[in-house]
Amino acid sequence: MAETNADEIFREFKEHSIAEFFKKNRQMLGYSGMSRSLVTVVHEYLTNSLDACEEANILPDIDVRIDMTGESKYRVTVADNGPGIPKGYIGKALATILAGTKFHRYMQQRGQQGIGASGCTLFAQITTGKPVRATSYTGTGKPYSCSISVDTTRNKPVVTDFAELDSAPRGLRVEGEFAEVKYEGGDHGVYEYLRRTALSNPHAQIRFTDPSGQESVFLRAVDKTPARPKAIKPHPLGLTVNDLIDFAHVSQSRRISSMLIDAFSRVSQDKVKELASVATDVDFGKNPRALTWAEAESLVKAFRSVKWIAPDATSVIPIGESQVETAIKNILNPEFMNVVERRPKVFRGGVPFIVEAAVSYGGNSGKKTSEGYEGSVLRFANRVPLLFDSGSCAITSATRDIDWKRYNIDIETQPVSIFVNVSSVYIPYSGVGKEAIAQEDEIIDEIKLAVMDAARGVQRYISGKIHVSHETSKYRMMMRYANQLSMDLGSLTGEKSEAIKKDLEKLIAKYYPRAKVGGAADQDGTQEGQAQEEADRAQDSVN
Ligand SMILES: Nc1ncnc2c1ncn2[C@@H]1O[C@H](COP(=O)(O)OP(=O)(O)O)[C@@H](O)[C@H]1O
Ligand SMILES: [Mg+2]
Repeated sequence: MAETNADEIFREFKEHSIAEFFKKNRQMLGYSGMSRSLVTVVHEYLTNSLDACEEANILPDIDVRIDMTGESKYRVTVADNGPGIPKGYIGKALATILAGTKFHRYMQQRGQQGIGASGCTLFAQITTGKPVRATSYTGTGKPYSCSISVDTTRNKPVVTDFAELDSAPRGLRVEGEFAEVKYEGGDHGVYEYLRRTALSNPHAQIRFTDPSGQESVFLRAVDKTPARPKAIKPHPLGLTVNDLIDFAHVSQSRRISSMLIDAFSRVSQDKVKELASVATDVDFGKNPRALTWAEAESLVKAFRSVKWIAPDATSVIPIGESQVETAIKNILNPEFMNVVERRPKVFRGGVPFIVEAAVSYGGNSGKKTSEGYEGSVLRFANRVPLLFDSGSCAITSATRDIDWKRYNIDIETQPVSIFVNVSSVYIPYSGVGKEAIAQEDEIIDEIKLAVMDAARGVQRYISGKIHVSHETSKYRMMMRYANQLSMDLGSLTGEKSEAIKKDLEKLIAKYYPRAKVGGAADQDGTQEGQAQEEADRAQDSVN
């Protein structure tokens, strides 16, 4: 066969927009698998509503509704009471990929890249050919509604059927129809996603109507909006060469030296001098927009060789111990639980994060199976539940590494829930789907410590329960002997056997103080567990 020359081949050379890219690679946005795709849609709209309410300092009231409209086809409606979207931005917000209000901030938020809502619009369009419908009111001007789709060749919004309305509640309501999806129950379904969102967002009220018309409400458990995270400047130790180039090339500073001071935290004049003495091949006086890859490389190397003040962790906002406790009581209603909030730690030298963990026992903890119970691990990143890709997640590795027997916990058979939330301005996800936290050693270690700490508290409760049941059975057996023995002794000695029996019973009770006499077994167990826990804690603080 004759050779084909380059000119001929390159006649096919074309550029593609990011929208076209995602149209072909929708699995990268979480649209793979029918059930998972539906969860992704709900997740994108719900996290946007929660982010928007948090930013506007509003207690979220969110309605989620899913209706079946055909074979593998559903309509999803999410309505919030947040700030709404001004009409000039609605198209871009819901139909331009890589556009949003969050991308340029270094701040702890659920969304970031500006691909969530527009990804949903694209998914609706490529599976049903229909635009999404938005209704919004910002509190000023007139409420409006419109239909929105993506012009994929240009990654631009197409807004049609725009109409001003006489009235609409404040906030945003989005409605889209999606095909190639399926509504499923179980661990990887929409209901479970919402239940877990309620667990990590006790300040939110979420109402859900499933395709059968069944309504569930996850009531607000805490009447306080979470503390607002601050936008912070990144710490030099958290930067890669590529990050540094990105910052430098958009910098308004005149010199590399002032760019370092302005753009990053903990960089002072003195620090710049110190860096300059290490990175001798970098001209600190030159324009940052001219920073080369080689210079950025030697700067990043210099960052690693000097001493730094630890990064500011006030930008990391955990859910909070008492909020987690309230939420778990509200949703899992356990017999017993222990919540632990660790102090801020740092990974890759410069990115602060906080781990919260809880272990709960009984109530709705764990999972009911045909044989009894099974423990479950509830994973969260910045309060967002992670339902998929558990195998590649740092939380899974950490909990798998723990020797649960040491804590009298059997994850295979007991009604136990293990809750872990990792908060950070920068969560290192292991994929674009943001369903798993990458295997960073520092994060795994910290999760392990948090979970083991939480498990220790529950261990005391469980061993308390085990002790009580052991003592109770011994006590009962001894009491049976006491009856016979007192009668025999009575007839041998001539003493009253009733009196002997009373004495014997007193003696036995003294030996088995935890034994449960009569009903209310669990009650006693609880008290014993707690008493022992307090004693242990006292012991811990002495040690
Ligand atoms: N419910 C909402 N209320 C107010 N603004 C919203 C809402 N949903 C989306 N937005 C706006 O649309 C932008 C794009 O959303 P999205 O594509 O999900 O990206 P991201 O959440 O990563 O910023 C957001 O940054 C926000 O400005
Ligand atoms: Mg989003």
